[in-house]
Amino acid sequence: MMKVENLSFSYGRIQAIRDVSFELKEGEIMAIVGANGAGKSSLMKCIAGLLKPQKGEVHYDDTRLESAPHKVVEQGICLVPEGRWIFPNLTVEENLLLGGYTSKNRAGGMKRAYEMFPRLEERNKQRAGTMSGGEQQMLAIARGLMAEPRVLLLDEPSLGLAPLIVNDIMSIIKRINHEGISVLLVEQNARKALSIAHHACVLEQGQIIKRGTGAELAADESIVAAYLGKIKK
Ligand SMILES: Nc1ncnc2c1ncn2[C@@H]1O[C@H](COP(=O)(O)OP(=O)(O)O)[C@@H](O)[C@H]1O
Ligand SMILES: [Mg+2]
Repeated sequence: MMKVENLSFSYGRIQAIRDVSFELKEGEIMAIVGANGAGKSSLMKCIAGLLKPQKGEVHYDDTRLESAPHKVVEQGICLVPEGRWIFPNLTVEENLLLGGYTSKNRAGGMKRAYEMFPRLEERNKQRAGTMSGGEQQMLAIARGLMAEPRVLLLDEPSLGLAPLIVNDIMSIIKRINHEGISVLLVEQNARKALSIAHHACVLEQGQIIKRGTGAELAADESIVAAYLGKIKK
């Protein structure tokens, strides 16, 4: 289980995260939904050790996470950042190999990645920057899995993708979770995230203002009005 306790982070005078606490239970998908600027990415970066919180801590299985990115990866927690950050001039295969640089079993990781994402295998010699947005997101997720994490942190995987592709990405997240990896999913696309989440929180101006199961929040009138917009059929 991953436990975030009283986390606060400020960029100078801008406080991005205020006293955020929640638990991600082993084997679950936890969604954090919130508008642009709510503090979602800052929260993810604090957990991943890319930002050092002024207050609070993160524990995984009773071990405190160190605030250094490579240590956090070694502890089994891997961030797939917003905007994907794949290497556009490298091939699919080269991107995956870089994701697995800490792994003792890169060949095994590669095989697993290609099983889960056959489209990446078909394109393994293609330069990553020439693939579609959805394929690039799949590559970013597959690269994260190469680190053999027990917890995957996904920052806005649906950003900028067409609705049908978003559905594919959500199915992939569910599948990854079925294979035993816990997922912390941060999304502006609240409806989609809540539809696959066991538990969820709403983040507003750096604070958690609501929590519940994914289904509870998806049915909550005030959340529907503020974050889910009109129902598109
Ligand atoms: N590098 C930065 N320097 C200063 N302020 C920042 C920086 N990154 C984000 N912020 C501010 O922190 C707040 C939270 O941003 P962010 O975590 O990116 O939100 P979200 O991911 O939910 O859109 C916003 O007010 C944003 O302007
Ligand atoms: Mg963000």
